[in-house]
Amino acid sequence: MIHEVIVTTRNSAGQVHIAPMGIHWRDNRVVISPFKPSTTLENLLKRRDAVINYCDDVRVFAGCLTGHYEWPVQQALKVDVPRLQDALAHSEVRLESIEEDELRPRLLCSVVHDANHRPFRGFNRAQAAVLELAILVSRLERLPRSKIQRELAYLRIAIDKTAGTREHEAWGWLMDRIDGHLGQMEAGQ
Ligand SMILES: Cc1cc2nc3c(=O)[nH]c(=O)nc-3n(C[C@H](O)[C@H](O)[C@H](O)COP(=O)(O)O)c2cc1C
Repeated sequence: MIHEVIVTTRNSAGQVHIAPMGIHWRDNRVVISPFKPSTTLENLLKRRDAVINYCDDVRVFAGCLTGHYEWPVQQALKVDVPRLQDALAHSEVRLESIEEDELRPRLLCSVVHDANHRPFRGFNRAQAAVLELAILVSRLERLPRSKIQRELAYLRIAIDKTAGTREHEAWGWLMDRIDGHLGQMEAGQ
């Protein structure tokens, strides 16, 4: 099973990097699978630690794909990488081994510290729709116009029925990106 999370890492200059990633668990290891090239991959290979942030603020997922990176962070306990301040929970992890792959290596990490910060209040369909739209935005170049429009129409139902302000804001950022892309497609035809 894949869990969509926010991975925080640091580069060699100490700057924090925030990226949405789909992780899975294998035995008691977290497996992070970045597509090459990836800043998360580079940072993890150099510094060997990261934080997995379990976050229900979908603006962070949409923001990382649309240029909104200013999310508040705070110091973690056992690794020198900050965690997202608003995460519901987080795991501090250390790189143990790598399964090499030309396209998408798998980074197997052990958990050195786990913490809960806020209760999980239940599933929200608009949050799922924003995640789906964020993934669609990350693949825009490869998708035909008809598929983009079909998926948008379906995902919009959950937004109209169940979104709160955070989900509307995230949706708006992604829609700006999609509208720009569809406009370019039209101009190029
Ligand atoms: C929900 C979601 C899940 C994602 N999962 C992955 C993933 O597992 N691996 C990956 O390389 N990129 C994934 N992406 C795309 C990256 O977040 C995005 O391309 C990122 O900027 C690239 O990673 P980097 O910042 O480490 O270079 C995902 C995006 C979203 C919205």
